[in-house]
Amino acid sequence: MKQRIFSGIQPSGTLHIGNFLGAVKNWVALQEKYESIFCVVDLHAITVPQDPEELRQKTLELAKIYLAAGVNTQESTIFVQSQVPEHTELAWILNTITKISELERMTQFKDKAKEQHQNSNAGLFNYPVLMAADILLYDTNVVPVGEDQLQHVELARTLAKRFNQQFGETFVVPEPFVVKEGMRIMGLDDPSKKMSKSAASEFNYIALTDSPEKIREKIKRAVTDSGKNIRYADDKPAIKNLINIYSLLDNVKPEEVENIYKGKSYSEFKADLAEVIVDFLTNFQEKYDKIDDKDVLNLLNEGKEKAKKLAEKKMAEVREKVGFLM
Ligand code: TYM
Repeated sequence: MKQRIFSGIQPSGTLHIGNFLGAVKNWVALQEKYESIFCVVDLHAITVPQDPEELRQKTLELAKIYLAAGVNTQESTIFVQSQVPEHTELAWILNTITKISELERMTQFKDKAKEQHQNSNAGLFNYPVLMAADILLYDTNVVPVGEDQLQHVELARTLAKRFNQQFGETFVVPEPFVVKEGMRIMGLDDPSKKMSKSAASEFNYIALTDSPEKIREKIKRAVTDSGKNIRYADDKPAIKNLINIYSLLDNVKPEEVENIYKGKSYSEFKADLAEVIVDFLTNFQEKYDKIDDKDVLNLLNEGKEKAKKLAEKKMAEVREKVGFLM
């Protein structure tokens, strides 16, 4: 039997090449080898205020992005988190075995709470427990994510083990999956911080919807390091990041990129990088534009049914183990 992967993205903010290179690219690469479930996590998105109409729109758009990026629904399942209520039910149960101190340690919560000041809500705090529920509900073996989610996957592992110990063997303990070059794509305007959907400036990221002109402008304005050489080194974080993007999109090793650009200038490298991104995104956007909303809704419906079957079975087992009347 194939092992299973599960992953998800929030339908909020602007999806960027960091999300693609850190997560979706690996989903597509892994989907043949693994039985795959990819979720649009709208329940996670409402931990920060959302406009309801926009949320609905973004949920559909994100499912289209999964398809345009190459998720093959002949083999893989795509669905919307809120349409399978077992996610919230399991999250509640897992909340009761999660220590407050464990959640207080989550760096993403600390960062987001800082952004939200006094408006930080309990959902934001419990968000990693819902993510653990997403993963554990499907007996997931492997979770392909970017580096910023590793701490959350670690919590899912802790909760799986704790539940199993307390109530008997129930959950598979999942493993994270990351690719070194793509797990942390940095901001183009600040290579010390990760590229982020919610960045204040659009010059932080390349959105999947950016036009060729915009891409060229953003790469031209991207911060570079001191010096002149195109070197893949930790003391050149800006160029290292640009080399990573080039390398992953063009499927060449970072060292090869270094070789190609030996003796060439930052501006020559940047001009070529912009074209690599333009080619990739033009192709992606063409595929995206061809996808019909109705077809996506149908696929999401089918996905919901498949996910529900698995989730209902697992929850029946969990309810029984916890001691609810059957
Ligand atoms: P989200 O929506 O913030 O991000 C989606 C995916 O993109 C990755 N990512 C990055 N990778 C590389 N470089 C970056 N700059 C970068 N920024 C984001 C993220 O690591 C993630 O893989 N809580 C999750 C969604 C989630 C989930 C799950 C994931 C909910 N349930 C279950 C896996 C399994 C989140 O908010 O990701």
